[in-house]
Amino acid sequence: MQNDQLIIENTITYVKKELLNAEGGHDWWHIERVWHNAKLISQTESVNSLVVELAALLHDIADAKFHDGDEEIGPQKAAFFLKAQSIDQSIIDHVEQIIRNISFKGGNFTTSFYSLELAVVQDADRLDAMGAIGIARAFNYGGFKNRELYNPQIAPNLQMSKEEYKKSTAPTINHFYEKLLLLKDRMNTSTGKRIAEKRHHFMEQFLQQFYMEWEGKG
Ligand code: ADP
Ligand code: NI
Repeated sequence: MQNDQLIIENTITYVKKELLNAEGGHDWWHIERVWHNAKLISQTESVNSLVVELAALLHDIADAKFHDGDEEIGPQKAAFFLKAQSIDQSIIDHVEQIIRNISFKGGNFTTSFYSLELAVVQDADRLDAMGAIGIARAFNYGGFKNRELYNPQIAPNLQMSKEEYKKSTAPTINHFYEKLLLLKDRMNTSTGKRIAEKRHHFMEQFLQQFYMEWEGKG
């Protein structure tokens, strides 16, 4: 138990250092929020909590979006770090699988890997893309990519392939319809679903207000 605590602390130090210059939506604070969400969701699931915590902490250690689309760097970097700690190989393998499968979400890549620990960390990560924080992150990412906030002449594209999605320069509001509002129905756990409902409702209210202000209606 004490050893687990030490491993978590070493991991936090490592992740903070690695993400020092990360973009605002993918920085240490994103990781800390996902870690907290994952611990909350775990309270109502029977999971290996070391696996959940390590995967939450390491899940964005090298996001493919910022590494020329290379989806393998993240899982490999995480495994390399964990091998230097005194951890069972089975735990390292499991964490590596979770990171690999979290980042392949929504793509054409099909995988047979599933575990309850993956379900928990995926929900925790998805929650951070919703609600007030999700809105803030979306506009931060859009700003980082120099996108328009909104453009009434550019409709959301609900049929985008993963490649098109990566290259898209669509306004940030479109991202709500292409991804953020779809997350509620993709949650895995009961706690995840409950929190997602609230955050979804908040995003809908935000959009209503946004269009009202856009049209100068008060
Ligand atoms: P995660 O950190 O959960 O793996 P992503 O890497 O897909 O999620 O996205 C990180 C954040 O950036 C999310 O909050 C997401 O909404 C936002 N984001 C990703 N793509 C876009 C986009 N095209 N427009 C606006 N925000 C985006
Ligand atoms: Ni993430």
